[in-house]
Amino acid sequence: MKRLIEEYEEWINSTWKKIEKKLTLTAELSNNKIPYSTVNGIHDNCITSEAPHNIAWWTNGFWPGIMWLMYYATGNDAFKKTAEYAERALDNALTNASRIDHDLGFMWHLSAGADYRITGNEQAKNRNLLAALLLAGRFNHDGGFIRAWNNTGYEGYAIIDCMMNIPLLYWASDETGDPRFRQIAMKHADKTMNNHVRPDGSVYHILQFDPETGDFIKAPTTQGYDAATSSWSRGQGWALYGFILSYIHTGKQEYLDASKKVAHYFISAIADDGYVPKCDFRAPDEPFYIDTTAGAVAACGLIEIAKAVPQYEKKLYLKAAINILTALDKNHCDWTEEEHSILQNGTEAYGRGIHMPIIYGDFYFIEAVYKLKGFDFLIW
Ligand code: GLY
Repeated sequence: MKRLIEEYEEWINSTWKKIEKKLTLTAELSNNKIPYSTVNGIHDNCITSEAPHNIAWWTNGFWPGIMWLMYYATGNDAFKKTAEYAERALDNALTNASRIDHDLGFMWHLSAGADYRITGNEQAKNRNLLAALLLAGRFNHDGGFIRAWNNTGYEGYAIIDCMMNIPLLYWASDETGDPRFRQIAMKHADKTMNNHVRPDGSVYHILQFDPETGDFIKAPTTQGYDAATSSWSRGQGWALYGFILSYIHTGKQEYLDASKKVAHYFISAIADDGYVPKCDFRAPDEPFYIDTTAGAVAACGLIEIAKAVPQYEKKLYLKAAINILTALDKNHCDWTEEEHSILQNGTEAYGRGIHMPIIYGDFYFIEAVYKLKGFDFLIW
């Protein structure tokens, strides 16, 4: 691992420098915003926008999350101030019960949760505990899963993305000493591992369970190419990173094994396409949609797997992460000052929101390079 990092040290250092330069600029320019994407190069603003990209939008933790990573790495107060502004703005979403869904981890663990863990801010701790209580409240006891969305008819929907929300629950148990949050998180992770992860390492996006019994009903998708056989690449990334995070927080070997299994599938699925994921690994070649954000998410998970496995296994995962990140940097990053976002060509869903900058693309790209630089605060 050390040798590989040394081999890429120049790239890691120069990329980190570019990140720091760009974020020093945008943290100032967007100090009263929570961006989702850019318009003509300028960050948009979910604090002032209309639905769906308004203050309740699920991605609103990523911008303050980037700010906290940058603050932790540099100590520059400008990052802290911008993060705090976003965290305060998010209070309007935390008190809006009908708009809250399972994305509480994305929204608060990266904003208030990071604030509390880095600065000890008690108000931030309170916000994150409220978020954890709301997430725990979505647990379906008899079904053994956390409910995803609020639509009528979706009572039994559990989606792979939620593996990234449950670190909030592990934190809540660690913080309060009450095991119930962790119990819920592990019940959900077990249900996901036993049902979403297919024998070949690919994963379903959505599973609908009977909300009374937890029995499987069907496997739809809203972001992949096709429901039954689809392999939406960001969903594979959520599983890959999500399971290794559950392993880190619990030590349960099966979660590490699940993460590795999805990683093996992911790595083989991108090898032929220059290490940049298609939006869905099981879609026709035309139209050719890529999703750079899926690559950035997976890279973060691969780096964590590399840290967790024995010495002679590490290289496979770390090299794959570096292959993805260098490919993204070479062909899909914009380092100019005219464009506020870094990572281009993210895709919201198959056939919708194609090849655009999306805030979580920047978040995971930055988080991955931050990990390679050796910064040790795990924001999840
Ligand atoms: N969590 C929704 C998405 O990945 O687009």
